[in-house]
Amino acid sequence: MKIKEYRTQFIQALTYLYGEGEAESFFYLILEEKQKRKRIDLALQPDLVFSESEIAIWNSILEQLKLEIPIQYLLGNTSFYGLDFEVNENVLIPRPETEELVDWILESQKSKAKSQTLKILDIGTGSGCIAISLAKNLPNAQVFAIDVSEKALATAQKNAIRNEVSVTFIQQNILETLDLGQKFDIIVSNPPYVRNLEKEEIKKNVLDHEPHLALFVEDNDALIFYRKITELAQKNLSNSGQLYFEINQYLGKEMIELFEEMNFKNIELRKDIYGNDRMMLGFC
Ligand SMILES: C[S@@+](CC[C@H](N)C(=O)[O-])C[C@H]1O[C@@H](n2cnc3c(N)ncnc32)[C@H](O)[C@@H]1O
Repeated sequence: MKIKEYRTQFIQALTYLYGEGEAESFFYLILEEKQKRKRIDLALQPDLVFSESEIAIWNSILEQLKLEIPIQYLLGNTSFYGLDFEVNENVLIPRPETEELVDWILESQKSKAKSQTLKILDIGTGSGCIAISLAKNLPNAQVFAIDVSEKALATAQKNAIRNEVSVTFIQQNILETLDLGQKFDIIVSNPPYVRNLEKEEIKKNVLDHEPHLALFVEDNDALIFYRKITELAQKNLSNSGQLYFEINQYLGKEMIELFEEMNFKNIELRKDIYGNDRMMLGFC
């Protein structure tokens, strides 16, 4: 079958669920990933055909997309901060909001001498996206990353190798940690922060396929990770060390109160590109 004909069928089959634009973007993403062909190739060679076995692969992906399995899991990778990351159902798919958090941290380091060594800890590393992007862009930094999930850490480790950076990964339950045993210049975390009461707002593809361990907290203790991490940061940040968080957009006020209670200084709450309260910074 001509690829152009299959393309029309594929987009038609997914338009009811994703809309025509997204269905089309899925088609070209898969074309690039699985066939190593670009959109321009189809324009230049309109008679290109798929073999029977290629059609079988495409149909299988199509069926999985109908079940709303995220395209990143089907392709097995995604891009974050210009780097390539393996993703699978054990790790959260990195979000653009988190790229903004990484950008903020890197921005804060621009005025500092390149020779200055820096110790950074990422708590709840998942795919390793934050830790690895920081390590890649701050060659003088020593980067550590914690997660409770062994499977997430195995993926993060592969991503560090893929991106040619050195990160020390540690399996640890942060909620049961009393002291991290060393001082860091920067602690950053994007911990689980979605309350059960917000589940209705969460799309089916996220709810059914992304790890709940990475996403949800109890309604009556939504800041459990933030409280624990700010406590640890008080003990384990160096003088004037920085604590960065990605936060629940509805809990900006509560997060400022928490930082104030814990005596953090120069507290800053930032919005993401969508205009939602999303990132916090406080100095020890
Ligand atoms: C929202 S995800 C963030 C993943 C990644 N840092 C990112 O920004 O895409 C939260 C991560 O925290 C981890 N996590 C959940 N509970 C934890 C705990 N008690 N101790 C350490 N990590 C935990 C999850 O496994 C998950 O990888």
